[in-house]
Amino acid sequence: MEEHPPEDLAHLHVTAQTAARLPGSERMQRIRGDRWIGYPRAVAALDRLETLFEWPTTQRMPNLLLIGPTNNGKSMIIEKFRRQHPPSSGLDEEQIPVLTLQMPSDPSVIRFYVALLSAIGAPLRPRQRLADLEQLALALLRRVEVRMLVIDELHNVLAGRDSGSRREFLNLLRFLGNELRIPLVGVGTREAYLAIHSDAQLENRFEPITLPLWVEGQETASLLASFAASFPLRSPSAITTADTARYLLARSEGTIGELTRLLTEAAVAAVDSGEEAEVLWCRTPDSLERLRANFTARGIPTTTLSLKTVPAPFP
Ligand SMILES: Nc1ncnc2c1ncn2[C@@H]1O[C@H](COP(=O)(O)OP(=O)(O)O)[C@@H](O)[C@H]1O
Ligand SMILES: [Mg+2]
Repeated sequence: MEEHPPEDLAHLHVTAQTAARLPGSERMQRIRGDRWIGYPRAVAALDRLETLFEWPTTQRMPNLLLIGPTNNGKSMIIEKFRRQHPPSSGLDEEQIPVLTLQMPSDPSVIRFYVALLSAIGAPLRPRQRLADLEQLALALLRRVEVRMLVIDELHNVLAGRDSGSRREFLNLLRFLGNELRIPLVGVGTREAYLAIHSDAQLENRFEPITLPLWVEGQETASLLASFAASFPLRSPSAITTADTARYLLARSEGTIGELTRLLTEAAVAAVDSGEEAEVLWCRTPDSLERLRANFTARGIPTTTLSLKTVPAPFP
């Protein structure tokens, strides 16, 4: 480990402080790795999922719809929840409390059941009839004691399809809910929400939770602060200032995925350049000038931004 006095690292979370003493190459790996930030909407969504998970079996189970633009943290929340209730295997039976499946972009009811069976890990025989697949899926869902079924990319099955196949799938959802008496969680874009709302019977059984795009304000400021505290950089960054937030939101179009990507690149560049504080980097002096001009034109002051050019040995 490189020597670095700990008292200089007060801008970091305790875990990031330890990482900040690692050599540069290892710190870049940390920066690029997965991280979970428990921002308030994500925590609220997890709480809601937990409530549903604990719901007693009733005639009509409540369902949830997690709605938001692409690249805005929906699947991360689902994955976090799934890990809180991981599969377990007893002597001869596997239990899968939370079963997650992703709908492919051109699904049919048959493909839905195939996706479901492969999520359970069931061996598949080719060209099975729909009725058999359905029976098998129901039997296995009960056997592995699935307590919550999560369907990610739900918009794929509902949006932009003729009303016949859409109806067929909505019927399937209703059928599963009635048969299994477990909560269903749909995850998708606004298209999924609109489709569910086109069905009077499903509409009031799916409570929507939304993850809107990030906009200027307190929530974004504290998200950026969490990122800043989690990257193992040895100097405090300016990424939590209002100007920087405005810049990042403009460039990311407000999704957490794109924010993450920009910040990750900036943090890697910081380590790589020896700067040790996050800079909003540009690859060439030309693009730096363009960026400044762009800001000035939109009335965003650039004096407080750490705008720099850095060489780009990283992707
Ligand atoms: N809670 C979070 N903490 C840290 N990073 C996150 C979080 N949620 C999302 N991200 C980042 O955003 C990216 C996109 O998130 P994802 O859940 O895949 O979006 P969606 O499913 O809405 O398309 C993730 O790969 C991750 O880099
Ligand atoms: Mg997703």
